[in-house]
Order: sequence, then structure tokens, then C-alpha cells
Amino acid sequence: MAEQGGLIKGLEGVVAAATALCDLDGAGGRLAYRGYDIADLARQATYEEVAYLLWRGELPTRAQLDGFGAELVAARPLPDALLSAFRLLPKKADPMRALQMAAAVLGTFDPDATDNSQEANLRKALRLTSQLATAVCSHHRIRLDKEPVPPSKDLGHAANFLFMLTGERPSAVNVRAFDASLILYAEHEMNASTFTTRVIASTLSDMHSAVVGGIGAIKGPLHGGAGEAVMLTLKEIGKVENVDAFVEKAFAEKRRLMGFGHRVYRAGDPRAAILRGLAEDACRQSGQQMWFEMAVKLFERVNRAKGLIPNVDFYSAPLWYSIGIPVDLFTPVIVAGRIAGWTAHLLEQYQDNRLIRPRGQYTGPGRRQFVPLEKR
Ligand code: SDX
Repeated sequence: MAEQGGLIKGLEGVVAAATALCDLDGAGGRLAYRGYDIADLARQATYEEVAYLLWRGELPTRAQLDGFGAELVAARPLPDALLSAFRLLPKKADPMRALQMAAAVLGTFDPDATDNSQEANLRKALRLTSQLATAVCSHHRIRLDKEPVPPSKDLGHAANFLFMLTGERPSAVNVRAFDASLILYAEHEMNASTFTTRVIASTLSDMHSAVVGGIGAIKGPLHGGAGEAVMLTLKEIGKVENVDAFVEKAFAEKRRLMGFGHRVYRAGDPRAAILRGLAEDACRQSGQQMWFEMAVKLFERVNRAKGLIPNVDFYSAPLWYSIGIPVDLFTPVIVAGRIAGWTAHLLEQYQDNRLIRPRGQYTGPGRRQFVPLEKR
């Protein structure tokens, strides 16, 4: 057994698994999925191509992509029981709790639910990727007392998501921006939620159970919940002229500024740089430049004063807001992107599994005699 090392808070810098999915260069601020640079994938691929790449190791040919896309379309509809379950929830239920419930309920209907074989897990990864997108949109429509929009049979993954959310066919500009943002969120090595899914899979529990855990982990504001928090911060600031005063006050209160900082990236998050361009275009297209201008001024003030870098969530917030994604659906959208990475990691974990079980460093009292109740 390996010599027990000292305590490393937050497992910072600890290598927990070998993975062929994501090459994350924190010092250099570079990111690649299976060797392809994230900028190339975001600009030239679709989310479907990236999911295929993550699960199968190669970009699909045209014939492979056509077949894969048809499988994703066929997997979009939800069991009626899940729609009924959404209708039983309080209208104000957190969409992330509804999504956790959805992943669990989908596990009760999935014919491969307890089969951890590679073939079954590939089928489940595909189904979950389609179904969770439909679940986010269906729950949203039901909480607004509207009928869910049936998934389209002819739109791509990103376009279908926007269609199911609004009931309207989205613009090509919005589809491109949304597709690129799903790709940018698809995978990110051993982040907290991915690690959570791998820990659950390492006990030989099943993919749906692991995804339920991943949704719980990504919900937190230090992780996927930051995107929503960034938009709430921009709304709190209200207008570009208020940025300076806001920053002064935030620094005085030692406030943690959402969308800034990263455990691994020190020079910069390459995804933020790409999302900055997408956000600028989307905010301009929709006549909401103020959100982008506010974000840029906030970044400049905070970066100049504290050297903090913007992370992936900083510019996705004004981008998604300007294309009409409700703020409390930002984190569910991140799940709709990250499901491809989580399931790709689960395929790796099941193929070369060892129970993930670190140690704790004991800091409690020394051994002592039991005291019977009547003597306490
Ligand atoms: C994601 O891991 C991943 O890959 C995650 C992710 C992915 O794709 O899966 O990239 C997605 O989660 C992005 C991060 C989203 N979270 C936020 O935006 C929340 C705000 N950010 C911070 O809470 C923080 O930067 C973390 C949690 C992201 C990283 O924190 P670390 O590595 O634990 O760093 P730290 O908290 O120890 O901070 C180091 C110093 C501290 O100063 P001191 O107390 O030592 O003087 O930097 C300061 C912090 O106070 N600091 C911040 C800050 N982030 C760090 N100060 C103010 N605001 C911030 N956002």
C-alpha cells in the first residue's frame, strides 16, 4: 500500500486518475479534448461531434455523425411519468433539484440501468445526453404552466434545446453561440463534479446514480453555480457607471467575486477568451451591449487590482442572458454540456476501476474510557 501522505486540502494538485479525454495546461492556459484544441472544436465542430469524440476517441465521419445524430434525436423524448413528476413539484422548485430527480427517474426507466458494460454505458451516455436536455426544457415549461415543447426531429442538439425552451425555431447566430458554449462546457478533466461521478462509479454503482451525484456537486456556487451568480452580480451592479463603486465595496467586504479565479488556471481560462467573443456578438445582436460592457469593465477593474482571471462562467453569463436563457437555468445548461464529459469519464472509470477511497487525518481526542450515562 502507498505510504500515507500528509493532508492536502481540497486535494489540490493531487492526480486522482489517468485520463485520455482532456489535456488541461493550467500554467499555459491551454485546453484540448483528445488532442484537439478547444478553440478549434468550439469554432468548427458541433456538440454532437464533440460528444462522439469524447466517448469514442475520434471525430466522426459524415456517415458516423449522421447515424449518431439520428440516435440522439430518437432518444430525446421523456417518459410521461417524468413529465407527471415535474407537474407534482412546487412551481418554485430549484431547476437543479428537478434535474437531479430527472436523472434518478430516468434510471428507473432505462433498460440498461444496472448494466455497467462498455456497450450499455455508451447507450446510456447517449440517452442521458439527449434526455437531460429535454428534461431541463420540459421542467421549465411546466413550472411556467405551459405544455412542454415536444423535441424536434430535424434540429441539431443545440438548436433543439433552444427550440424546446421557447417553442420558437432559434436564429442561426444563437444556435452557433449556444452550440459553442455547450462544447466549451463539455469536459474539464478532474473538476469537482467529474470527480464525484467517478467516485460513485468506482463503487460499481451505476451511471444514472453517478450523474445524480455530479448534478449535486456542480450545483454549488464555487463550481457550476457560479454562472448564475455572475449574472446576478451584473444585475446587482445595474449599469456600467456603477462598476467602480461596486468593486470598491466588494473589496472592502472581502467578497468572493463569482466568475473569477480557478483552481488550475493561473494565466487564464482559454474558454473565457472564446466566450468573451461569443458574448460580445450575442449582446450586440440582441441590443444588450450593456451587459457585455459591464462585464469587461468589471474584469478590468478586478484583474488590475487583484490579478484574478475570469473563468468559463464569467462571459457565459451575459452570453446566455442575451440569447434568452433564464438565469436560474444557467447551471442546468452547464449540466447539459458537461454530461458528455461526465459519461466519458465514467466509461474510463469502469474500464479500469479501483475503488476510490482516500484517507482522513485524525485530529480528534486520544483514546479514552467509556463513561456510563448515570456517571456523566
Ligand atoms: C468552474 O475545476 C474546474 O475545472 C471547474 C470548472 C469546470 O469547467 O469544471 O472550470 C468550472 O467551477 C469554474 C470556477 C467557478 N467558480 C467561481 O467562479 C467561484 C469564485 N471563484 C473562487 O471561489 C475560486 O477562485 C475557486 C473556487 C474557483 C478556486 O479556488 P481555490 O483554488 O480554492 O483558490 P482559493 O479559494 O484558495 O483562493 C486563493 C486566493 C484567496 O486569497 P487569500 O484568502 O489566500 O488571500 O485567491 C482569492 C482567495 O480569497 N480568490 C478570490 C476569488 N478566487 C480566489 N477572491 C475573490 N474572488 C474570487 N473569485
